Amino acid sequence: MDKSKIKKALGPIVDPSLEKTFEETDAVRYIGIDEDSEKPSVNLIVGLGKDDDQTKAKVRRAIAKVIKLDLGFHGLKIDFELLKKKESILDDDSKIKYIGIASGKGGVGKSTVAANLAIALTRLGKKVGIIDADIYGSSIPTIMDVPIAIPKADKDEKIIPFNKLGVQLISTEFFLKKDQPLMWRGPMLGKMLNHFFYDVAWDKELEYILIDLPPGTGDVAMDIQKLIPECDMLIVTTPHESASHVAVKAGFAAKELKHEILGVIENMSFLNHAGEQLQIFGEGGGDTVAKRLKTEVIQRIPIGQPQGEYHSIYDMKEEIGVIYLGLANKLLKMV
Ligand SMILES: Nc1ncnc2c1ncn2[C@@H]1O[C@H](COP(=O)(O)OP(=O)(O)OP(=O)(O)O)[C@@H](O)[C@H]1O
Ligand SMILES: [Mg+2]
Repeated sequence: MDKSKIKKALGPIVDPSLEKTFEETDAVRYIGIDEDSEKPSVNLIVGLGKDDDQTKAKVRRAIAKVIKLDLGFHGLKIDFELLKKKESILDDDSKIKYIGIASGKGGVGKSTVAANLAIALTRLGKKVGIIDADIYGSSIPTIMDVPIAIPKADKDEKIIPFNKLGVQLISTEFFLKKDQPLMWRGPMLGKMLNHFFYDVAWDKELEYILIDLPPGTGDVAMDIQKLIPECDMLIVTTPHESASHVAVKAGFAAKELKHEILGVIENMSFLNHAGEQLQIFGEGGGDTVAKRLKTEVIQRIPIGQPQGEYHSIYDMKEEIGVIYLGLANKLLKMV
């Protein structure tokens, strides 16, 4: 079933604390559907004006009627949260640009690209943050050598992001239990992303937020793409056909959700060896993706391990470090 159908069906329910309908307050924050099991169920995050027991019970009954009786689902799980006055980086007058890093397949270097690009932008004097939203296996903290720990809160109870090499960082990994099954990670993520946009004490002068997205076009990846604000997408692929094939799908999905595609990054493009470029992971993947998405390969990044202090961050003295700086420069001209 279509999520918009569920949202519409819930629209007339009244939040008694505000005496307004769900449609008016945009109360339904997240909808997750599990239709595969024998007992199809729905997970909701609902924002209310007050979250006292009486209000919640009233609303819970009204929702259950719609979801179970009218729409025929067996299971229903509702998380409530307080609707807040809009005061976040998502406000219309916010000048932050979002750049989503997406891929079809995992392991193509999405997180490495996100981290190195963020650092390159910082080296060019920009104020940059990263949201690591890859709940399948977030790796930004590891890549950036930031310990996994629950971030502290400031006096206004906003989450203080970690800071590494001038880049502000917040990760789902700081909040999820490691062995938590994906089916719980999904709905929790919706809640978390709301926090990331509303409750993080980002630097007031932040100019760019890079979002490391989960790979693929599965439910979770799509849910996130719907939750994030309009953003420009970079699609990462390797030169291999199997990677490019799914990258095209991920690109089309992003387009469908009205995100702008900035271009394609072909990672692990070739190996520099004795003055030659060896195409050990195949060739043409980047071009295929770009052509299908009617965009361009904006950067090819060769195979190479960082030689400096950090195991995944390339130093400015290295060829790949300079390539990332070039990519950052190109992007600044594009967005
Ligand atoms: N250009 C490169 N040359 C050599 N190794 C690379 C390059 N880019 C990334 N890697 C390595 O490839 C592995 C996968 O990279 P990374 O974790 O960034 O990919 P990912 O797409 O984010 O993967 P996942 O789907 O697991 O999140 C890492 O070990 C990383 O160090
Ligand atoms: Mg990753």
